[in-house]
Amino acid sequence: MTYKILFVCLGNICRSPAAENIMNHLLKERGLSDKISCDSAGTSNYHIGSPPDRRMSAAIAKKLNIETKGRARQFQLSDFPEFDLILAMDKENYENILACDRTGAYDDKVHLICDFCSRHDLKEVPDPYYGDVEGFNLVVDLLVDACEGVIKYVEEIICNS
Ligand code: 4NP
Repeated sequence: MTYKILFVCLGNICRSPAAENIMNHLLKERGLSDKISCDSAGTSNYHIGSPPDRRMSAAIAKKLNIETKGRARQFQLSDFPEFDLILAMDKENYENILACDRTGAYDDKVHLICDFCSRHDLKEVPDPYYGDVEGFNLVVDLLVDACEGVIKYVEEIICNS
C-alpha cells in the first residue's frame, strides 16, 4: 500500500506545490516513489486551476534543476480519509484544516511541516507571495530540509507496519 501525504498552503500555487514537487524529486532519487506518494491543495479558492507561481518554479529549478508541475485545487473534506499525513505550511493553514473537521477524528493526521526540519529553526514556511526572490529561495531550502525529515519519519512507519 502507498503512504499518502498531502501538503497544504493558502493558494496552492507557491509553497504546497513546491513541497509536492520537491518531495517527488527526493522520493525518485531514493527509489521510494512506489511506497510514498503526495499531492497538494490550498485552503483558499483564490487560484483554483492555476499552475504554480513562476517565481516558485524558478527558485526550484535553480536549486534542484527540476520542473514544477500541477494545477491548484482547494482542500476538501474527502482529503481527511484519503491521506495518511496532512502537512500545513503555517499555523493559519493548520488551524483552517482542523476547523474543517469538527469531530476531530482526523486531528492526528495534521501537522506543521516545519516540525520535520532538522537544519532550520523556523516554525512556519513564510508566505512568499508578496515578497522577493529571497523569500522563494528560503521556501525551497526549508522544504528540502522538511521533506528529508518527513521521508525518514514515514520510512520508520512503513518499516514497522
Ligand atoms: P501559497 O502562496 O499559499 O504558498 O500558494 C500564496 C498564493 C496566493 C496568495 C497568497 C499566498 N494570495 O493572496 O493570492
